[in-house]
Amino acid sequence: MAEQKPLPKPAVCLIAALTPGGVIGRGGGIPWKIPEDQRLFKKITAGHAVIMGRRTFQSLGRPLPERRNLVISRTLPPDSREVEVYPDLASGLAAAAKERPGISGERVFIIGGGGIYAQALPLASFLYLSRLRREYPGDVYFPPIPAGEWEKIICRAYQEFEWEVYKRNGIKNINLEHELLSAQ
Ligand SMILES: NC(=O)c1ccc[n+]([C@@H]2O[C@H](COP(=O)([O-])OP(=O)(O)OC[C@H]3O[C@@H](n4cnc5c(N)ncnc54)[C@H](OP(=O)(O)O)[C@@H]3O)[C@@H](O)[C@H]2O)c1
Repeated sequence: MAEQKPLPKPAVCLIAALTPGGVIGRGGGIPWKIPEDQRLFKKITAGHAVIMGRRTFQSLGRPLPERRNLVISRTLPPDSREVEVYPDLASGLAAAAKERPGISGERVFIIGGGGIYAQALPLASFLYLSRLRREYPGDVYFPPIPAGEWEKIICRAYQEFEWEVYKRNGIKNINLEHELLSAQ
């Protein structure tokens, strides 16, 4: 078996909910509300840094509790009291690698939106995708996932979506106990 590369620090994890056609958003928001997916998102990302684009932050309207919130923006003031603001993804990732009390620097979750997912996908080691069963109209899309680069390591069926976790080929796996417990 080919030697597996150690994980980068932080290991970049994209987490998203998308329709069969790749829609993730519409009119600055998310065109569905699926509590089961929201619970899963919270369990998986709690205790980690999350990185988001400015529009996603504005659509949330507040920092996500129990997580370290990093926002990528060239227009928000860097000394915002609510969240940490970085002028580009690379500086956000470098900041996320530093441990904070109660927040691991081993992994960082990229939580959207479309622009940030597209920039982070080539750097990602893991993808956490809630693949909705039905289509919704939208105006923001998840970027195309290059075929042949990913191995599906978890798949769980929920009423409205299939939850899939992928690992980049050739990268060392992580302990998935937390993921499997969260998915119960
Ligand atoms: N379904 C899901 O899982 C999911 C998850 C998250 C979001 N969403 C949806 O996605 C939509 C938002 O996505 P979006 O693509 O429109 O916006 P976005 O990625 O959330 O934010 C875009 C903004 O991020 C900043 N940014 C992006 N790249 C940057 C870079 N390289 N350097 C500096 N700043 C950068 C810019 O902010 P400035 O203009 O301030 O510079 C840019 O305008 C919403 O509809 C939201 O509800 C869906």
